[in-house]
Amino acid sequence: MNEKNIMAYETVDFDEQESAIIIIDQTKLPGEVKLLHLKEQQKMWQAIYLLQVRGAPAIGVFAAFALYLAAKDIDADTWDTFYTPFHEAKEYLNSSRPTAVNLSKALNRMEQIAIDNKDKSITEIKALLLKESKEIKTEDVWMCRRIGENGLTLLKDGDGILTHCNAGQLATSKYGTALAPIHLGLERGMNFRVFCDETRPLLQGARLTAFELIAEGVDTTLICDNMASQVMKNGWVNAVFVGCDRVAANGDSCNKIGTSGLAILARYYNIPFYVLGPTSTIDMNTAKGEDIVIEQRPPEEVTEMWYKQRMAPQGVKVYNPAFDFVDNELISGIVTEYGIARPPYTESLKEIFRRKEDAQVFKHYL
Ligand code: MRU
Repeated sequence: MNEKNIMAYETVDFDEQESAIIIIDQTKLPGEVKLLHLKEQQKMWQAIYLLQVRGAPAIGVFAAFALYLAAKDIDADTWDTFYTPFHEAKEYLNSSRPTAVNLSKALNRMEQIAIDNKDKSITEIKALLLKESKEIKTEDVWMCRRIGENGLTLLKDGDGILTHCNAGQLATSKYGTALAPIHLGLERGMNFRVFCDETRPLLQGARLTAFELIAEGVDTTLICDNMASQVMKNGWVNAVFVGCDRVAANGDSCNKIGTSGLAILARYYNIPFYVLGPTSTIDMNTAKGEDIVIEQRPPEEVTEMWYKQRMAPQGVKVYNPAFDFVDNELISGIVTEYGIARPPYTESLKEIFRRKEDAQVFKHYL
């Protein structure tokens, strides 16, 4: 039995000496805290696909380190001989999961570093790629903390919060997004009552969210996904806080399957519904929710995974989309590291990116 608190682990760690990415195998939680030291690209691809590492921001951070490791192993001394296998490695990693935009954004950002520095030596380019991957992780911690600060302004001590899937520390480099205000509030002596949906079929709520909240001593109640309406009707929920995998330019927010239904329930019961995520999860190049590619997962996740024996008859058809999107009109606010966007999102999300740009220009002059 491992006694170390789950919150003391790094979700995605990088060991430069070993040239390995170290992750907690999230498919084994909460029963076993098993660390994986990943060195091969195929294992890294699998880690994303199998959800050993998961959650939009964590996938982005992981992919950046993975692409650096791919670059490091390329034996080339000219830009052309370097770039072809580098780009192939990028495309390979990008094919592991389609919905969370953090994956492609982090990979594009890494590729841009290589392209912008093509006049430098390959050794220098590799060093710059390592620096960039570390920066993506550092920024992720900062962004989550800021989201926590901004999200906390929406809560008061003792509030009941309903959350879905896991948008906590296990989905990011630290704090999480939807859970960041809860973790941060706790650091400040506040406490909340959190209801976590178990989140069928992969049980991220039961296995991960409940695990990290209990580890922190948060008042946590686990419910099956179909109990949310009852919990809301009981008057136990002051706000719904969820994460996101891709937010479109009009505010439509894609998140773990079931999130859309929760937003509809919240509207019925007049409960504010907030999406919390960093600007790295907002995709201004995707106009609306319908344009987001929704990942379809294997049927076994529904019929047999987690059961001692198969729980559905052989031959039954299974529909297993991993995500859905919430219509922007059901969202009370989108909480980012640069403030809370309010409807109409086509305008307010642009303003969030203006603030980000201003902050970056300002940083440049410091
Ligand atoms: O399939 P998963 O576990 O990667 O799905 C994760 C979610 O849907 C999270 O809510 C989202 O990525 C936000 S994580 C801060």
